[in-house]
Amino acid sequence: MKRLLLVFITLTLVAALASPVLAASSRRGKRTFKKECKTCHVEGAEGGKISPLQKTQAQWREFFKKNQHQVKPDVWKKLSDKERENLLKFFLDFALDSDQPETCG
Ligand code: HEC
Repeated sequence: MKRLLLVFITLTLVAALASPVLAASSRRGKRTFKKECKTCHVEGAEGGKISPLQKTQAQWREFFKKNQHQVKPDVWKKLSDKERENLLKFFLDFALDSDQPETCG
């Protein structure tokens, strides 16, 4: 019985690590957001203010999968896969319908 539990835990861990979104880091995503996005996305800048709260998790997924910042594709191409993963994690963690919507910054 104990052994079965151990196998289960190991498999869960492996699955978690293998899943890109779970392995991604929200904290790093936030850093990327500040560095790469906020230049154009603060109040009064050309892209207007954006925050994770602006969209639901489904909408963010859609944006990352389909839109990929069509207005300025270069912005997106510049990012590494890992940066995009972390960024998505950050947006999902603080999205409108997340457990902990971003209330500041
Ligand atoms: C060079 C300037 C620039 C940079 C850098 C930039 N954006 Fe944008 N972004 C824009 C502009 C311009 C728009 C279009 C705004 C509009 O439609 O009013 C836009 C639109 C968006 C939208 C759509 C807003 C909506 O209402 O759906 C999202 C989301 C977005 N950007 C995310 C990002 C993210 C994430 C980054 C960082 C990886 C980023 N942007 C970096 C200029 C920029």
